[in-house]
Amino acid sequence: MKKVLIVEDNEDIRELLNLSLEADFNYDYIQFEGAFEAIEFLKDQKTSDIHMIISDFNMPEGTGGDLYKFIKDSDYNCPFILFTSEQFADLKDFGGFLDTPEKHRHISKPTDLDELHEIFNELSHNFTDGQTEVICEPDDYVRINIKHLYKSNDAFINYYIKLSSSKFVKIIKKGDLYDDSFIKKYQEKGVCFFFATKNDFEQLNCNLIHIITKDLNCEHRGSEEQIGIQNDALDILETSIKNFGLTKQTITLAKNIAKSAIKIINKGPKLHGLLKNLQGTNKDLYQHGLFSSYVATAICASLNWKSHATLEKIAIAAIFHDYKLTEELFKLSSQKLFLVDELETAERKIYLNHPKDAASEIDQDDSIPEGVSQIILQHHETPTGSGFPKQLGAGNTAPISCVFIISEDFIHELGSRELTKKIYNEIKEKFKKKYDKGNYKKPLEGLLKAFNPPS
Ligand SMILES: [Fe+2]
Ligand SMILES: [Fe+2]
Repeated sequence: MKKVLIVEDNEDIRELLNLSLEADFNYDYIQFEGAFEAIEFLKDQKTSDIHMIISDFNMPEGTGGDLYKFIKDSDYNCPFILFTSEQFADLKDFGGFLDTPEKHRHISKPTDLDELHEIFNELSHNFTDGQTEVICEPDDYVRINIKHLYKSNDAFINYYIKLSSSKFVKIIKKGDLYDDSFIKKYQEKGVCFFFATKNDFEQLNCNLIHIITKDLNCEHRGSEEQIGIQNDALDILETSIKNFGLTKQTITLAKNIAKSAIKIINKGPKLHGLLKNLQGTNKDLYQHGLFSSYVATAICASLNWKSHATLEKIAIAAIFHDYKLTEELFKLSSQKLFLVDELETAERKIYLNHPKDAASEIDQDDSIPEGVSQIILQHHETPTGSGFPKQLGAGNTAPISCVFIISEDFIHELGSRELTKKIYNEIKEKFKKKYDKGNYKKPLEGLLKAFNPPS
């Protein structure tokens, strides 16, 4: 199959271009972060194997100009689409580029995908005598290369496999958590594509477009405005978590995830302010958030749900899940014998509403990934359905929320004790009775595996 090169340093944009073109045109899409990487690749290719190149201009690892120069000086004669937010007139290296519109095009970023599809189709026609590889799937379904599913471990939409030209079977439900070995199993059976309904696919694209637009808009925020992760907070965590039997890699992963979660939070004007507040005035709550994010990351890592996209969601939720609680209330609720019914009416109201209130506030900030508010909303649900606000049971609480619920309960159970083998066994017994059901099963397995201290 002929190859289409997508050269772009922003991973989300790369992914979006790839997903959307792949749904309509049957080529082998290969992604590169910069021109140099693409040039190295091209050096080993047969010129006739390359169908088209789509490239950004401004990239740290080699510009679109470097790539175009290489193409001009070589035997390659494939169409080249320059996809950039730079003013075309300002670009050196592209003199005469637009004189051959049948082969060379400039698209201004951002663009709507329809324009890209039209131009792709047109250039393809010019170069294949009309033999463009257009996909014809039944109207309601769109194909998705299964390699894209490695990018995340929680499903943003439903995925199907195709049994016959009209029969599709759902294999991953929206919100499910899956590990890489699940995808690999299908790949080994020769499955290259999963399918999504058209509506779901559009939603997936919209979500990506949304992330990208946000990214472009906040590139200008000054670095002095960014809030970092406080090192003393990390130090305390590291000492307290060292006795937990976690591997060094897991601790490093948790640390990096917490850092990138804070980076994402910094992008949203509103949450940025909230975080600043939290770090300054309610340190215990902030520490509690980081701590639960560490535990949740460790659970996910031991189950091989290690994609950054998934872990970042949990980490952001962890940082904000309790922020609606006052310092007083947070202290009270952290005590072993805490009972909601013993609270004064006003305080009880705050307590019972804190998941809902925090979730709806998070939802208002566009820069926060889809799904974060759901974790926050569900963080007081229980396997028996006795939790709040929605009394969801083990089957209805999202798997990703279950990871977080178990993490918090583990922290609560442990209190200020050190995690010895005896205490581990105690918690294990208790949790097995409580959590060995529905969507909690896997996270429980992950917790017990991750935190098993040496005897
Ligand atoms: Fe909490
Ligand atoms: Fe809470």
